[in-house]
Amino acid sequence: MKTFENVSLKKLNTFGIEVKARRMLVVEPGDAVPKVDGPLLVLGAGSDVVFTRDYDGTVMRLADVADVLVDGTCVSAWGGMAMDDLVRWTIDRGLYGLENLSAIPGTVGASVVQNVGAYGVEAKDVVERVEAYDLQQGCMVCLSPAECAFGYRTSRFKQEPGRWLVLRVVYRLDRIFEANLSYKALERLPHASADELRRAIIDLRWSKLPKPDEHGSAGSFFKNPVVAEKDYLSLREQYPDMPEAHPTEEGCKLSAGWLIDRAGWKGRIMGKAGVWPNNALVLYNAGGCTGDEVVALARAIRDDVFDRFGVALECEAIII
Ligand code: EPU
Repeated sequence: MKTFENVSLKKLNTFGIEVKARRMLVVEPGDAVPKVDGPLLVLGAGSDVVFTRDYDGTVMRLADVADVLVDGTCVSAWGGMAMDDLVRWTIDRGLYGLENLSAIPGTVGASVVQNVGAYGVEAKDVVERVEAYDLQQGCMVCLSPAECAFGYRTSRFKQEPGRWLVLRVVYRLDRIFEANLSYKALERLPHASADELRRAIIDLRWSKLPKPDEHGSAGSFFKNPVVAEKDYLSLREQYPDMPEAHPTEEGCKLSAGWLIDRAGWKGRIMGKAGVWPNNALVLYNAGGCTGDEVVALARAIRDDVFDRFGVALECEAIII
């Protein structure tokens, strides 16, 4: 395990916000997880967080190590491994099921904390079990998908911050490739092999997001809001150009990107935080922005969308 004092987090949050942590612990495979006194933040690759201040406590991370074990079609990956490295690793070895999650930033551990999802697949669809360290009880726990309480961009790990360190995720994959084309736009893309589909998804994804080496962002900043069917139908009557909602168990899932776009926010900049010109769901660092500037922009968007459409947006990103 490595310990750092007074360390910059600029490269450890994808917004690229300049903040520091009082202490950082980096846990490697095989290390005993240490007991931490005082405030503790478990951080993955920092791809869904906005820091508004220095962190006056301990940041705990897992080392970025490619450590994967295979048992039949079950793949057990170290939580600190980059998720996209795992996606490529599995495809290279003829194990399928993760290809639609190509190019999602963040770690394997974060994939279950956030229940990441894209192009018709969510992490929960392929998770067999999660091996996590319970920092409160000081013991290892093996959790079934039901015990992980997965929801749309959420899980038990996100609901109980500071309690869990996800050490390994076991995914159940397939030896036979069958393209998952449930996200309509994929039908028109090359998908004869998992590798072809992966490459097409990477291109599609990056066409909608800022290039990380040019502008920091956290992907979708807001979740797509879920509203009652009657509210959706009345909005559709008022705005016939609104995209069709996705039906879910909780109600109709609307496109936050469309609402923000329709409210005129695409391409706007407030302070040094902006709304990405190609995708209104993405807030970005327009050059040396602070976390407070991102939060101020998000608040202005949320208030405006609520005033216009009566729909409350919720952040996907975590504000610290
Ligand atoms: N739209 C607009 N204007 C915009 C952006 C979107 O009109 O500026 C419209 C699109 O035309 C489309 C609809 O909104 O009709 C939905 O857009 P899209 O299919 O691109 O997906 P999304 O709802 O914006 C979600 C996820 C993404 C994921 C994509 C693809 C959330 C919050 N976001 O985005 O996840 O990659 O679907 O599956 O659920 C992430 O969570 O960080 C993320 C990137």
